[in-house]
Amino acid sequence: MLHNLGSINLDHFYRVPHLVHPGETLASRSYHVGLGGKGANQSLAMALAGGRVCHWGRLGRQDAWARDRLARAGVDVTHVELVDEASGHAIIQVDDRGENAIILHPGANHGFTRRHLDTLCDSAEPGDWLLVQNECNALPELLACAHKRGLAIAFNPAPMNDTVLELPLGSCHLLFVNRGEAAWMAGLPESSDAEVLLQGLHERLPDTATVLTLGSEGAWYQAGAERHFQPALRVEPVDTTGAGDTFIGYFMAALQEQRSVSDCLSLAAHAAALSVQQPGAADSIPPRDEVERYHTRPSSN
Ligand code: RIB
Repeated sequence: MLHNLGSINLDHFYRVPHLVHPGETLASRSYHVGLGGKGANQSLAMALAGGRVCHWGRLGRQDAWARDRLARAGVDVTHVELVDEASGHAIIQVDDRGENAIILHPGANHGFTRRHLDTLCDSAEPGDWLLVQNECNALPELLACAHKRGLAIAFNPAPMNDTVLELPLGSCHLLFVNRGEAAWMAGLPESSDAEVLLQGLHERLPDTATVLTLGSEGAWYQAGAERHFQPALRVEPVDTTGAGDTFIGYFMAALQEQRSVSDCLSLAAHAAALSVQQPGAADSIPPRDEVERYHTRPSSN
């Protein structure tokens, strides 16, 4: 089983001709609200991929539909707590090229207590995976109790900030990072090429495997001296929101099936490529059968 302690957000999407400039007032072309949050998206992607995932999260009672949506997709929501607080939410602009800019309000996602984390970690079996992102509070306490419990930790330090560098990252087994996150963690310029970023991450965390996603430059897996490369798939993006989360959920589901690293990367890349062709976050995550069809079509690259 994989346990995912992660955010559940209400995503407010605004379609705009360009991302708003400082001091500018810009009318949006369309608006809709959907399920999001890096945590919820990753749990949903994993369940849609056929993985076994239990979500650990906090959500405002008035937004129970979000929990029910995860449950319908096959996520175990036993540990999604409904609370008398505002849910986390995100304000997301998406421009004509499919790029986004996001403002995040953590809300209930920042209400975890030490006691609650202990209970959650106790509900997991040693050897289980714990997946975590950087949208919930108390990560130092979480990583410490997960490590003590003998869980294998997969960490996606998004959204990145300086607090990540103070975490006991050596206790993580697997990191999912994009270019900016890798550069920040390795103390390197963002313009560094993949080789330099991978080397920098290896020097900083020699015992931690890394998946480095580089958008149109593909994705890398590195564990010690072992490396695998997944070329990017050429698609026209409509909305890139949630594509990274889709990649992670599908990668972890394939890993749970004990597929080879190359298979995990390939399945994840195909799922992410489908997701950028749809609007929304959770709404853009494709089901496994669609990903398999895309994966096995003759001209899949
Ligand atoms: O990764 C995409 C997610 O980031 C969105 O769903 C939004 O909620 C923010 O957390």
